[in-house]
Amino acid sequence: MIDSVEEIKARLPIEELVRPYVQLKKAGRSLKGLCPFHAEKTPSFIVSPDRGIAYCFGCHKGGDIFRFMQEIEGVDFVDALKILAERTGVELKQERPSFRPAGKDEKEQLLHIHELATSFYERCLWNTDDGAKVLGYLRRRGLKDETIRSFRIGFAPESFETTYTMLLKEGFTRKILVSSGIAQSRETTVEKIYDRFRGRLIFPILDHMGRVVAFGGRALKKDQEPKYLNSPETVIYHKSNVLYGFSKAKSVIKAKNATVLVEGYMDMIAAFQAGVENAVATSGTALTSQQLRLLQPFAETLYLSFDMDSAGQDAARRAYDLVQDYDFQVKVVELPEGKDIAEFAQNNAEKLPEVIAQAKLYGDYFYHRLFLTYGTADVHAKRKILQDFFPFISQLRSTIEKDAYVRKLAHDLNLQEKQIYDELKNLKLPVGHPARTFKNLDPVQPVRKKMAADELFLGFLIEFPRIAGLITSSISEEYFSTDLKPIYKHFADQYNGQGVQEGKGFLATLPYEHAEKASLLSLYISEVYGEIGEEAVEHEMKVLLDKIIKDISNTKREELGRKVKEAEDKGEKEEYLRLLREIDDLHLKAKR
Ligand code: CTP
Ligand code: MN
Repeated sequence: MIDSVEEIKARLPIEELVRPYVQLKKAGRSLKGLCPFHAEKTPSFIVSPDRGIAYCFGCHKGGDIFRFMQEIEGVDFVDALKILAERTGVELKQERPSFRPAGKDEKEQLLHIHELATSFYERCLWNTDDGAKVLGYLRRRGLKDETIRSFRIGFAPESFETTYTMLLKEGFTRKILVSSGIAQSRETTVEKIYDRFRGRLIFPILDHMGRVVAFGGRALKKDQEPKYLNSPETVIYHKSNVLYGFSKAKSVIKAKNATVLVEGYMDMIAAFQAGVENAVATSGTALTSQQLRLLQPFAETLYLSFDMDSAGQDAARRAYDLVQDYDFQVKVVELPEGKDIAEFAQNNAEKLPEVIAQAKLYGDYFYHRLFLTYGTADVHAKRKILQDFFPFISQLRSTIEKDAYVRKLAHDLNLQEKQIYDELKNLKLPVGHPARTFKNLDPVQPVRKKMAADELFLGFLIEFPRIAGLITSSISEEYFSTDLKPIYKHFADQYNGQGVQEGKGFLATLPYEHAEKASLLSLYISEVYGEIGEEAVEHEMKVLLDKIIKDISNTKREELGRKVKEAEDKGEKEEYLRLLREIDDLHLKAKR
C-alpha cells in the first residue's frame, strides 16, 4: 500500500494535479495562485514541484497530492487514493483497514442507494405508461431525448412504496433508506416508511465528481404542492455546497473562463442543450459563499441569468454583494421580460449564446435599469436615481470606476460632478450594507495562524542543515512538540550518521507519514525567508532556539509551582523540598 502511495506520488506531479483548479504563476522555484479553499485577492497558495506540496499559507489547507485531492473534491483518503491510482494507472494491491475512517460505510451505502434509485426512476420514465406521459411533457418543453438521458431525468411513480420496496430487495435497511431521504418514516416508528417522491419528475443532483447525491422532484399536476420537493440534507448532500450541473459544466467553465449562473434545473438543462455548456443552477436558493468558492478557481467571469421579475433582480443584487469578497467580473444577462432561460430557449435556442454574450457589466446594467425605471424628467426622479445608485458606487473598490460612474451620472442627469460627490458624502448607507464595513467579514474566512517556534526551527534545520551544524549540539528532542519529534529524530539520526542532504534530499528519505509535514515546514521557510544569508539564518535559528527553551522552562516552572503547592497542601514535606531544589536547578540553568 505504502509502495502504491509512493508510486502514485512519483507519477503525478503536484502542479499537474492542481492546475485545473488554480491558475498558477511562476514565482522562483515555486508556483503561486489564488487559494481554492478560501476567498482572497492576493495569492497565498503555493505549489512546490520540488517537494510535491500545494499549500495555502493563509488558511493552512493543502499538502501533498492526496491531501489536496481530499480537500478540493471533498473525499476521504481512501477515495483520493483510488481516484489518483486510477488516473496514474497504479494498481492498489490491498486496502489497509486502518485508512478507512468511520462513517465510510454509510456514505458508500447512500451513494449506492442514489445510484439505484436514479436508474429506477429512469426506467419508470422510459418504460412505463405513466412515464410515457411525462416523457411527452419533457419533449413538449423542448428537451431532446438525448438531453433527457444525459441528465438522467426520471419519473417517480404515483405510489407510496414502489421505490423503497425495490431498495429493500437490494438489501438496504429501512433505517438507511430514511437517512438517504428517499424514504420517510411515520413519526413514531422506522418500521413504517414510505416514498418521499411520488408522482414527480425527478432531477438527479450530482456532486462535483458526478455521483448522484440527491434529487429534486418537480410536481406534475396543477394542485400538487410544493412545486419542487427536494432531498433533505444528508451525509452526502450539503445543499449550500452543490451547484446543479457543475460536474457536467466544469470543464467548459474552465475553458471559457466564465460561468453562467441560472436559477432552476430546467434552465440549466435548456441552456446546456442550446450550447451554453458552462451553465450551473443554484436551484432556487440564494447563492452561497461555498458555491462561489467552488467556482472561483475555474472562471473569472460570472454571468447572472436570473428571472427578469423583481425577485430575480433582488437575487441578482444579493449575488452581486456576495461576490464582492471574490475575484469575479459580474455580468447580467438580459432576457425578454417575464421569461426564464428555459422558456426563452424553447423557441429561440439558437439566439441564446448571443443573448449571453451581450450581457452587461453589473454596474452598467443596474445604471441602465434605474434610468428606465425613473426617467430623468424632474428633480425628484434624479434624486431617486442617485439614492438608489449611491450604495452601489460606495461599494466599488476602485476609485477609477467610481469616478467613471460619477462622470456618467453628471452627464446623464445634467448635474455638476461636485454636486454628486457632495451628495455621495452625505449619504447614509443602510445598516448591513457591504460598503459600511471596512472589509466584509466572511464568516468562513480563516484566521491567519502563525507557525510555532519549534515548527519554524525544524523548518530551518531541514532547509539549512549545514548551518544547523553550528548549533545542533545544543538541541534536544524535547524541544519539539509530539508531532515534530519523529521528524527531528530522523534528522538527528542522519546528521549523526551519514550526514543530511540539503532540502529535498532529506525529505525524500522520510517515511510517508512524516514527509508531508516536513515538506510543508521546509516550503514555508524557503517562501518566507527566501535567499537569506548564512549569518541571518544562524541568527534566526538562535533566536528561535532561545524562545523554545524559554517557553519550555516557563511551562516546567508553572508545572513545578503547581506541584509544590500540592505537596504543601498534602503536607508531603520531603516531596516539597525535592521540588524546591528542582526549581532552584531550573533557575541556575536559565542563568547559564
Ligand atoms: N425550487 C425549489 N422549491 C420550490 C420552488 C423552486 O427548490 N418550491 C427551486 C428549483 O431548483 C427550481 C428553481 O428553484 O428549479 C427555480 O424555481 P422555478 O422558477 O419555480 O422553477 P423552474 O425551474 O423554472 O421550473 P419550471 O421551468 O419547470 O417551471
Ligand atoms: Mn422555469
